[in-house]
Amino acid sequence: MSLAVMHQDGLHVEGVALGEIAARFGTPCYVYSRAALTAAYAAYRDTLQVHGLADRSLICYAVKANSNIAILNLFARLGAGFDIVSGGELARVLAAGGAADKVVFSGVGKSRTEMRAALEAGIHCFNVESASELGQLSEVAGSVGRRAPVSLRVNPDVDAKTHPYISTGLKTAKFGVAFGEAFDLYRRAAALPHIAVKGIDCHIGSQLLDPAPAAEAADKVLALVDRLAAVGIHLEHIDLGGGMGIQYRADEPAPAASVYLAPMLAKLKGRREKLVFEPGRSLVGNAGLLLTRVEVLKPGEEKHFAVVDAAMNDLMRPALYDAWHDIQKVGAGETATGTPMSYEIVGPVCESGDFLGHDRKLALSEGDLLAILSAGAYGMAMASNYNSRPRPAEVMIDGAEMHLIRRREEVAQLFALESVLP
Ligand code: LLP
Repeated sequence: MSLAVMHQDGLHVEGVALGEIAARFGTPCYVYSRAALTAAYAAYRDTLQVHGLADRSLICYAVKANSNIAILNLFARLGAGFDIVSGGELARVLAAGGAADKVVFSGVGKSRTEMRAALEAGIHCFNVESASELGQLSEVAGSVGRRAPVSLRVNPDVDAKTHPYISTGLKTAKFGVAFGEAFDLYRRAAALPHIAVKGIDCHIGSQLLDPAPAAEAADKVLALVDRLAAVGIHLEHIDLGGGMGIQYRADEPAPAASVYLAPMLAKLKGRREKLVFEPGRSLVGNAGLLLTRVEVLKPGEEKHFAVVDAAMNDLMRPALYDAWHDIQKVGAGETATGTPMSYEIVGPVCESGDFLGHDRKLALSEGDLLAILSAGAYGMAMASNYNSRPRPAEVMIDGAEMHLIRRREEVAQLFALESVLP
């Protein structure tokens, strides 16, 4: 939330004015802070350090949250591994200089092609989500003459108390192996010649603000690990997923990593297994914002609309989850002061669901720049070309420098892969 700081010439990210970024790269534009990304990673790693767990932990950044290769490369340089969910993400990680042997592969529907690519790259572990997947993976591994390193992703049936679309740990979810079936599946896996049982995995949901559900899930997972050890199946690592929430609004604080992780980490004290974590949002969410310009002000009888140049295709979270993102005026050399009014901040896309914020009290003029905060996670990664809108540019700020880390798409690129009938 505190990524952008007000200076005399408007909001800044690190040493750069947002107005300058807009002038140079145009809008809409995603802006990230190298310092904020680094600090978020450090908060996770330092917490593990305090609990004496850093040496045997691997922080696997969940690529899906933001897959720009500059961000992946930054985390790779900090020592991170990666949690991937597709062959596409694997290719990105490798292109960004990530180490294959620090990659865990999650997801309910891995294709055989993806399995093969990951086996050939030599990833750390497959997080297997069903009995069928285990069988398919075993076949593919056999066909390329390898043993696939495997964790079962177990579904602990714990209520993560988050938005239903991003809650994954209830037994009604499509994710993971039902808790009651996991023990038997482990025994079957241990007998398969092309499977090497390595660990256990669990991820119960995203944007979790209460540490209790994750700690409860850890308890269940540890009990299963011990039950397996009793029959001779010794797991090398325990993967407790991601999910730590971030602060989106001033009146809804999120616990610091040290606070959120403490109850879970307390349970891991004195154990011998290595640990894996899969944080996504908490490493990038508050390290990014979406910069947009007010195109049109449209006062109405019931509501006043501010139509901006970013839309649901650029940032889908409000439309999809009714998510709330703080929206601040950049205040770069603008004349408008006046009394703030309540605005619907909307995009140009032809849907009433295309909004970025409801009922925002702002004093606006056409041409003003706005910063949509906490947009570093699941922002650009979920952007589309709906309405044939090129996706935004992405810029990384590093001190007083700005680096273009993704060029704005061009319209011609949007249909370059298409062809008309002969
Ligand atoms: N591991 C697995 C297996 C996951 O499915 C996810 C996220 C993560 C790790 C990372 O979770 P995080 O630390 O980011 O909470 N698009 C939604 C969020 C979807 C999360 C999907 N899985 C949003 O914009 O809120």
